[in-house]
Amino acid sequence: MNIIVTKNFEQTCERAACMIADVIRQKPDARLGLATGSTAQGVYPHLVKANRVGKLNFSRVSTINLDEYVGLAPDHPQSYRRFMDENLFDQVNIDKSNTMVAKGTGDIEENVRAFREALAEKPIDVQLLGIGVDGHVGFNEPGEVLYDGAHVAELDESTIDANARFFATRDGVPTRALSMGMGDILRAKKLILLATGESKAAAMKGLLLNEELDVQNPATLVKMHPDVTVIIDRALAEDIGYCG
Ligand code: F6R
Repeated sequence: MNIIVTKNFEQTCERAACMIADVIRQKPDARLGLATGSTAQGVYPHLVKANRVGKLNFSRVSTINLDEYVGLAPDHPQSYRRFMDENLFDQVNIDKSNTMVAKGTGDIEENVRAFREALAEKPIDVQLLGIGVDGHVGFNEPGEVLYDGAHVAELDESTIDANARFFATRDGVPTRALSMGMGDILRAKKLILLATGESKAAAMKGLLLNEELDVQNPATLVKMHPDVTVIIDRALAEDIGYCG
C-alpha cells in the first residue's frame, strides 16, 4: 500500500484529484469508479477547476458509481445520482450517457442486474473510495459474508446514524442500498482511499496498523490490491498513531 499523509483534508482532496487527472491524461477514455459522501465531495471541485481551465478533458471519460440508496429516485435531493450531477457531471464536459449510477427505484432486482452488466462492460481504471465509521467501502458492511458482485446491502445502524446528517430526520434515511461488491472494487486497476476525521480512526487503524484482512472491517480487504493509495491527513495519522 502506498500511504500518503497530508497536512490537511484540503491537501488530501487535491492529491486524490491529481491522481485521477493523471489517469485521464494518460487514458482519455478512462473509466472512473466514483464515490459520494463528504470525503469524496472535496475531490470534485479540483476536477471541475482543472476542466474549466482547459487542463482536463472529460469528453471521452466514462464513470460508474459505487452505490445508490434503495427508495430514492434519481432526482431526489439526497440520491447519489443527484449528488454526482451537482458535484461533477453538470460542471464538466462529460457525456452524461457515459455516466452510470445504479437506479434506486423501480424493479430493484432488475436494477442490480443492470448494475452487474454495466460493471462487466469495461474495467474501472481508477476507483475513488471513502470509508465508513464501521469500515465499509461502497456499502459493503461488516459481516460474516462479503459480496463479490453488485448486490442490495442492508445498512448498519452506525451507517444510518452517520448519514442522518443529510436527511431531515433519522427515519428518512434509507436502510438499503445497491452497492458494488468487494470483488468489483478489488477488480479496479487502481484504488484511492481517502479518510479524514476521528470517527474513522478505529477503521483506519485496522487498515494501516496491522496485516489482518477482517470481514468485520471490510476496508482491510484493499490490502490485497496491488495498486492502492491511502491518503489521510496528519490529524488522523496522529489519532491512530501512524508514523509512516
Ligand atoms: C459513498 C460510499 C461510502 C462513503 C462512506 C464515507 O458512495 O460508498 O462508502 O464513502 O460512507 O462517507 P463520508 O465521506 O460521508 O464520511
